[in-house]
Amino acid sequence: MPYTAKDYVKLIGMAGFSETLLKNHFTLYQGYVTNTNKVLDTLDQMSKDGKTATPEFAELKRRLGWEFNGMRLHEFYFENLGGKDGIDKNGKLAKKLIESFGSYEAWEKDFRATGAMRGIGWVVLYQDPASGRLINFWVNEHDVSHPAGCNPLLIMDVFEHAFMIDYGLKRADYIDAFFKNVNWSAIESRIK
Ligand SMILES: [Fe+2]
Repeated sequence: MPYTAKDYVKLIGMAGFSETLLKNHFTLYQGYVTNTNKVLDTLDQMSKDGKTATPEFAELKRRLGWEFNGMRLHEFYFENLGGKDGIDKNGKLAKKLIESFGSYEAWEKDFRATGAMRGIGWVVLYQDPASGRLINFWVNEHDVSHPAGCNPLLIMDVFEHAFMIDYGLKRADYIDAFFKNVNWSAIESRIK
C-alpha cells in the first residue's frame, strides 16, 4: 500500500505563516511521500531480483530512513499546528513537563534553545515510555538522533525552508510564531 500525502490546506491563514511559505512547505512534504514510495518499491524490486548484495541496494536502504522520516515528521509537524488555545495547565502534558523539567517555562526555554541551534533539522519533545520522562531532542536532518522506543509529542521544523521565506535569518521570530500556533490538544492526545 503506497503512502498518500495528507492535505494540510486548512493551515493556510495561520498567523505568522504566509500562504507562499506554507504552500512551498506542503510541496516539499509531498516530495517526501513520493520518494518514500519510490524507495520502498525499488528496494522491493531489487530484493525480488536478487540484487541485495550491491552498493545500490545499500545506499537506497540508507536513504529510506531519511525519506520516511521526512514524510512522517512533516505530518506530525503540520498536525501539531493550527491551534488557538494555550496549553491546558491542568492537563497531562503540563504535569509531565513539570515533572521532567521543573516548570513549563524551563521546558519551553530548553525547547526554544534547541531550535535556535545552528544547523538544519528538527526539535522533538519525546516521551520516553520506559521512564516516563520527557526530553527535548535535536534531530539532525530527518534521521539522526531519534531516541529508540520513544514517543514524539511536539515537533518543530527548523530547516530553513520552514521559515526563511517569512523571516529570513530570524529563526527566533519563527519560533515565536510557531509557539503561537501550537495545537496543544493534538499533543495531549499523543501522550501514552
Ligand atoms: Fe520542512
